[in-house]
Formats: sequence, C-alpha cells, structure tokens
Amino acid sequence: MAVELNINGQVKTLEVSPDTPLLWVIRDHLNMTGTKFGCGMSLCGACTVQMNGQAIRSCTMPVSAAQGQAITTIEGVESKAAKAVQQAWEEHAVPQCGYCQSGQIMSASALLQSNPNPSDDEIDSAMSGNICRCATYMRIKTAIKDAAKKLG
Ligand code: FES
Ligand code: FES
Repeated sequence: MAVELNINGQVKTLEVSPDTPLLWVIRDHLNMTGTKFGCGMSLCGACTVQMNGQAIRSCTMPVSAAQGQAITTIEGVESKAAKAVQQAWEEHAVPQCGYCQSGQIMSASALLQSNPNPSDDEIDSAMSGNICRCATYMRIKTAIKDAAKKLG
C-alpha cells in the first residue's frame, strides 16, 4: 500500500504495509539512521522523533498513524530550540557512546519548543522516557538548562 509521509519538510511516498513501525520506515526505507532502535517497546526513547513538534516513540507507532502529520527526525531538526540544544550538547560534551543521544536531543528540543523555561521537575518529567546506558543524565540536565538560558 502507498503511504505518504511528510518528513523533515519533504513529502515521501512509500510502498509499505500501514502497520510497519515508523522507525523501520525512517531507517530502512528512507535510510536515515540517526534515529536508533533500542527496545522496540516504547521504553528507552532511542527512537524518539517529533510529530507536530511533540516527542514520540517511533518504534511502536504504525506508519499509517504518521500520515498527514509533520514528522521531524534528528536529520531535519532545525528549530531555534533544537539549535540551542545541539550547541549546549557540544559545549557540555554530553554524549558518551552516543547511542541514545539523537532521542535525547529530540525530547529536549520538543520540551524547549513548548516550554522555553522549564523547571527541574518539568525537565525530569519530559526526559524520563529517555534512557542512557552511559548515564549522561547530569550533563543532559545541565545542557538543557543552559540551552533554555540562551533561548531566554
Ligand atoms: S526503541 Fe523505541 S522506545 Fe526504545
Ligand atoms: S551516551 Fe551512551 S547510551 Fe547514552
């Protein structure tokens, strides 16, 4: 079946089953490998992308549910908030192995897009679904606060 996806500002038509997880379409059909597979069960956040600016888990979302929505991946994220987040990530040397980091950046930038001055609790809540096996959590929090300050 033909599925039409609006991804990173481009419309793509793909021949895939409508129940294919969005993550597989992004990685295997569109060859954008910045979005990672971790658990496949909405538990780790490695597969986080944005749908209409909200952070969502692409591993459990059927591609049919993403039709007609604006999907953004790490390859296409370019809002002011996302740029501030990416700069803060570099300045605070956040990534270790890097595996979780595109998901972390997508969640952090979605947070700052909707709430440019989040409290500690709001940061903890927005980032709680993104697991980092290297435990970069403190640097992530510092970088989000720094990005918020720069945006303010
Ligand atoms: S791979 Fe989607 S949440 Fe873990
Ligand atoms: S940086 Fe290694 S899993 Fe997060």
